[in-house]
Amino acid sequence: MKNIVILISGRGSNMQALLEARLPCNIAAVISNRADAEGLNIAQAHGIHTAVIAHRDYADRGSFDAALAKTIDRYNPDIVVLAGFMRILTPGFVEHYRGRLINIHPSLLPAYSGLDTHARALHDGVKIHGCTVHFVTADLDHGPIIIQAAVPVARDDTEQTLAARVLREEHRIYPQAVRWLCTDQIELGGQGRVILKCRKQIGTALISPGLE
Ligand code: GRF
Repeated sequence: MKNIVILISGRGSNMQALLEARLPCNIAAVISNRADAEGLNIAQAHGIHTAVIAHRDYADRGSFDAALAKTIDRYNPDIVVLAGFMRILTPGFVEHYRGRLINIHPSLLPAYSGLDTHARALHDGVKIHGCTVHFVTADLDHGPIIIQAAVPVARDDTEQTLAARVLREEHRIYPQAVRWLCTDQIELGGQGRVILKCRKQIGTALISPGLE
């Protein structure tokens, strides 16, 4: 069974979805860069080891990432899962976990990388928005895509209502992506593309607003 380490910074709802998904893996630890991350309590309630590596205790990104990697590697992870981990990682860190570091981002990448994705989507008037699970590379929010979920944007959406609709889908696609990794159903193919073995292509479209 593969070992998984999850990194969080706050609420931890994606982490919770992973803990509750009964994945065929051993969730070895949850690590946060903030001691006050609410997700730490949820992890502890599930009996998962937790650790805090506070970024404020380190002079620069490099020394923080080195300390973080040292703690992560104690758990011999096959997969490292970023679940709302709000630190930009150094190229050295990303390279160390190449092919086994994944992230969830609240937009349909490559659109809206970075912060404030829902506000920017609303500002642009897009009719379809969503979320993406991807491998992490040194190119922020631009690694090979594993799975995406699209949701309609409603006429009266606020940042909060849109975020909630996207978050519901995050909680569905992240466990699926980790399950595929745990069962070796994903392969990183040439040109940085993810190949999903044994999957049928779906044939439905999300049209927003709907046709009449
Ligand atoms: C999620 O929207 C995730 O996509 C983004 O940060 C948020 C974390 O939420 N990377 P939570 O801590 O998992 O509840």
